[in-house]
Amino acid sequence: MADKAWKNRVLTPVQSLLSLALFAEAALVLGLAAFPALKLVFWARALPLKGDLHVLALGVAMAAAYFVFGIALVALLPIARWVTFAQGTPVGSFSYLSWEGWRWASFNALTLFLRFSFVNWIRLTPFLPVYHKLMGMKVGARVQINTAVVADQNLISIGDDTVIGGDVTLVAHVAERGRLYAAPVVIGRQVTVGLMAVIFPGCVIGDGAIIAAGSVLSKGSKVGPGEIWAGVPARRVGRRPGFRR
Ligand SMILES: CC(C)(COP(=O)(O)OP(=O)(O)OC[C@H]1O[C@@H](n2cnc3c(N)ncnc32)[C@H](O)[C@@H]1OP(=O)(O)O)[C@@H](O)C(=O)NCCC(=O)NCCS
Repeated sequence: MADKAWKNRVLTPVQSLLSLALFAEAALVLGLAAFPALKLVFWARALPLKGDLHVLALGVAMAAAYFVFGIALVALLPIARWVTFAQGTPVGSFSYLSWEGWRWASFNALTLFLRFSFVNWIRLTPFLPVYHKLMGMKVGARVQINTAVVADQNLISIGDDTVIGGDVTLVAHVAERGRLYAAPVVIGRQVTVGLMAVIFPGCVIGDGAIIAAGSVLSKGSKVGPGEIWAGVPARRVGRRPGFRR
């Protein structure tokens, strides 16, 4: 009962106010990214064209403007990270209403701006690793990332030639027993994280390991080099034949 009263009187009003503040911050950051995009549309509107040709030019400009907006947002968010003092998620166990909780929320809010607006277009392109690096992730060479669901980049490292499969969830925090818990995630070289797998905080995945599609790697799991883990929760099911470190 006491827990419910605390949530009604304190947590819900604070959460509501912060949500409104988030919308205002999103309007500002997304609006800045929209600036060059709108310039493009206005330029197309002023073209000396007539009738359907002008409509077509405007349509193409509007579609191109969406991509200009997305790329501008990729460049703006790492700047917003420093301007708003939202450098990253801290390590440890902390309450939602704490300085650490604020750092977690303000940083991950920025990552949501891209996730909700554009990130699906840059999955499996070199732009996504660059964006994650600028947000604090350590990303090796030739890494392929095919998911939108990445949080806490400052606590994640990925080694060379690793593949993060489609719709994987890669997070370094969990909400558990009324608190937040965050710990670094270390993924080695030549790892395959299978389609829709979930990687929780504190996981260490050795070089050449495979996490099977749809598996859930519980927090703090240690996967040895070349090992194959599968299931919910994931357990070791084998070794990758012929893998040499
Ligand atoms: C894990 C994986 C590599 C196993 O493939 P494999 O080496 O050909 O081995 P098998 O299919 O014979 O499976 C080995 C064991 O793991 C189990 N297993 C395989 N995939 C599993 C999964 N997704 N979840 C749970 N168990 C799984 C099998 O049932 C089998 O168990 P058994 O030995 O008790 O019969 C493969 O299933 C996989 O998930 N690859 C990831 C591909 C991917 O998503 N790439 C990135 C996106 S394209």
